[in-house]
Amino acid sequence: MPDTKHPYPNNPYSRRKDEHIALATRFTGNGNGLTDVHFVHQSIPTVAATQVDLSTHFLGRQFPTPLYINAMTGGSAKGKEINGQLAQIAGRFHLPMAVGSLSAALSIPALTDSFTIVREKNPDGFILANIGADKSPAEARRAVALLAADALQIHVNTVQETVMPEGHVATDWLTHIAAIVQESAVPVVVKEVGFGMSQETLLQLAAVGVTTVDISGRGGTNFAAIENARRPGHTYDYLADWGLTTAQSLLESQSFQKKGTVLASGGITNPLDVLTALRLGAAGVGVAGFLLRSLMHVGLNGTSDLVSTWLDQLPALFALVNARDITELRRQPLWWEPEMSNYAQQRHLS
Ligand code: FNR
Repeated sequence: MPDTKHPYPNNPYSRRKDEHIALATRFTGNGNGLTDVHFVHQSIPTVAATQVDLSTHFLGRQFPTPLYINAMTGGSAKGKEINGQLAQIAGRFHLPMAVGSLSAALSIPALTDSFTIVREKNPDGFILANIGADKSPAEARRAVALLAADALQIHVNTVQETVMPEGHVATDWLTHIAAIVQESAVPVVVKEVGFGMSQETLLQLAAVGVTTVDISGRGGTNFAAIENARRPGHTYDYLADWGLTTAQSLLESQSFQKKGTVLASGGITNPLDVLTALRLGAAGVGVAGFLLRSLMHVGLNGTSDLVSTWLDQLPALFALVNARDITELRRQPLWWEPEMSNYAQQRHLS
């Protein structure tokens, strides 16, 4: 039984969360596919950076910029500290922010302050709660209520659960998702955790009423490698390259984009990644591991400066491709490396 009086040091959940934080700084991919997609360079400027409007719309809200902080942590002392720092960045730059999975907080109330700190530090911010697809509508409601959350993320993470020593995959996830979507008072995002989403997955989700997804593709934080490192004998080494990259997933999402909203994450490490993901149809672009590593290396002020630099550079990049806003950006010509063309051809995508 976890010690609920001094919950952080003594329960397996907090230990796992700390291991994820430590290992996420080690196991990062470097091939999210966005670097295989290039804008065709244009030499004559028609848009000035000062004319660029970065605003976007998703989950029923208008946001000044497309960046958001994706789900990472909570449930341990370290998780609390990181959530507090991320919430300050979210507040300063008006970025939506998701917390890590609230599953354990639903059963160990003493863990909740490691999540609710994001509300304390950013009282008016747009905050997303996060749960697994094994949860009920009642549990989803409790997770949202804990944070007075503005939206709910439901993560689907088959690869992680397969490799994770204490993991569990069940075939009723879609039924749970359908029930939560039906009953949720706040908008719902179904998200991956770094393995991407296929057209087939997106059709299944659309069929049960999901209208917003985060395709969270391969190429950044690698939970196959992270969970394998936590596993005695490291017996799943060979799954380290599993999944669809962020770029492949965005191609896969083209049909879904006609009616639904696609958010993109997975290995976003610079403003050009953001620009490319938006060009491929993302309405918002999420960053997780890169911000975590930045907090570890340069702390809160350094990370805040980094986000500030990204938000300063984005208008310049829009101007570079002569796009005044996201709608115009989506019309700009691209070319792809052969590997992407090959993928698109095999999957009948264009
Ligand atoms: C995550 N991620 C995650 N996702 C989720 O839905 N619930 C969670 O609890 C967690 N936990 C978590 C912990 C840590 C330490 C990291 C780095 C990430 C996954 C995250 O939201 C995102 O989908 C992937 O990490 C891919 O994005 P990056 O990290 O490549 O930017």
